[in-house]
Amino acid sequence: MRHLLSTKDLDRATAVGILDVAEDMADVASREVKKLPTLRGKTVINLFFEDSTRTRTSFELAAKRLSADLINFSAKGSSVSKGESLKDTAQTLAAMGADAVVIRHSSSGAAQVLAQSGWIDAAILNAGDGTHEHPTQALLDAFTMRKRLHGDASRGKDLDGLRVTIVGDILHSRVARSNAWLLTTLGAEVSLVAPATLLPAGIATWPVRLGYDLDEAVDANPDVVMMLRIQAERMNAAFFPNTREYARQWGLDDARLSRLRADTMVMHPGPMIRGLEISASAADSSRSTVLEQVANGVSIRMAVLYLLLSGTAEQ
Ligand code: NCD
Repeated sequence: MRHLLSTKDLDRATAVGILDVAEDMADVASREVKKLPTLRGKTVINLFFEDSTRTRTSFELAAKRLSADLINFSAKGSSVSKGESLKDTAQTLAAMGADAVVIRHSSSGAAQVLAQSGWIDAAILNAGDGTHEHPTQALLDAFTMRKRLHGDASRGKDLDGLRVTIVGDILHSRVARSNAWLLTTLGAEVSLVAPATLLPAGIATWPVRLGYDLDEAVDANPDVVMMLRIQAERMNAAFFPNTREYARQWGLDDARLSRLRADTMVMHPGPMIRGLEISASAADSSRSTVLEQVANGVSIRMAVLYLLLSGTAEQ
């Protein structure tokens, strides 16, 4: 594994291997000194062309906990806003000796372009490319499910038979795509529930079941319900009548929450729009894994940086 661009091309053994290394990394977070010397002397660049809170800071913390040097580079406030191309930016970072580039970009395929262009000889980690993929998010989601299910005994385990329902703006969601591939690879059964206008063309080829009614999906007794944000910034048309109507039909409100089992996991990648796709009590309930997802994200990103940069993951 030289880059991490998608979950679609991760096989089961590799995916479980990443989750297992993340377990070791999670142990570091519980120590008094939360730091390993493993990536001392390596340079990691956070190259973010889109807004981000948790993904950017999570990669930053992960790199620092492994003792790498990390530089944050955001398009706003850089030469990109003066019109510099991705090629020139990449070559500049290469000249500075970057060992890994974590890229978030509004264009689907941007991470792959960087990995295959020859502009830069660094490990490329996709931190979200347009509506395409967000592999570390899916890995941290799978890790969170595995930990809730198996606790400390989760090493080597997959998600065989787990019933996961992903709800909302599938059309614009790289999180939904990366999860659909990864969770299926790990043995889970994935259902998608959304208004027909928020399902992409070609959905019939995905390894998932489809539903159009959230009440039915809730009453089908899922093990995990993953709510997605309405990605208003990617919408150039009216995909639903209005936000009140969306919340009523597609939101995880208190009534729907109360019909879920006490141990059903309620997940959300963040940022959440409380009152729209998820009620405050659903977001804050004991079923919610939202903050566990954030904490686990650091362990997953430490694992991926370690596997890509320490030279132990050559295949
Ligand atoms: C997601 C993203 O950016 O794709 N957020 C995240 O990385 N935690 C989902 C979203 O923005 O809604």
